[in-house]
Amino acid sequence: MKFFLDTANIDEIKLAASMGILDGVTTNPTLVSREKGAGTFKEMIAQICEIVDGPVSAEVVSTDAKSMLDEAHELAKISENVYIKIPMIREGLKAVKVLSSEGIKTNVTLCFSASQAWLAAKAGATLISPFVGRVDDISGVGMDIIRDIRIIYDNYGYETEILAASLRHPLHLVEAALIGADISTMPYKVFDQLFNHPLTDIGLKQFLADWDKVKDHV
Ligand code: E4P
Repeated sequence: MKFFLDTANIDEIKLAASMGILDGVTTNPTLVSREKGAGTFKEMIAQICEIVDGPVSAEVVSTDAKSMLDEAHELAKISENVYIKIPMIREGLKAVKVLSSEGIKTNVTLCFSASQAWLAAKAGATLISPFVGRVDDISGVGMDIIRDIRIIYDNYGYETEILAASLRHPLHLVEAALIGADISTMPYKVFDQLFNHPLTDIGLKQFLADWDKVKDHV
């Protein structure tokens, strides 16, 4: 499973990239709005593409296919790594179909059902982003959507990759991996939490203390 960071914060992206296990980045208009003063949207995406050797999702903000395509063509010029993030609406899928025929990579976002994911795959989306946490937030079971999409895509051989999004904690990642999602995107906080286990800290403390007792004799 590929690990993406869900942020537009350059410091967080640099930190995660320095660990050597970061495969890509997803942004959205809300995440970008939190980085006021960090340059224009295009400059931010270009900077992220310089740090990360992998897909970087940049979202369009138009809601009609023609304007989405205009935005997408501009964003795609920034780098080969740019994936155009398009909302899961009728006009969005029209744009995805065109971009797919042009060889431009897409990430269909704001997906909340297996039927939406199915349509996105038929339109030729490169990635589909089901939002797990937002479904959990309203007392649904977000992970069930990922499970259904996996079965449908496998049944019919769709190549669209499943990007588990809106992940809130490490267990979400483990569940998504067990189901067979292709990618998980997570906030930096969740990425960092993946490393932690209290028994690791206790064990290391003990090892170092024991070594300290004998280090002059071994
Ligand atoms: C995915 O690409 C989205 O940007 C993101 O995962 C949404 O997460 P949220 O529900 O925590 O805002």
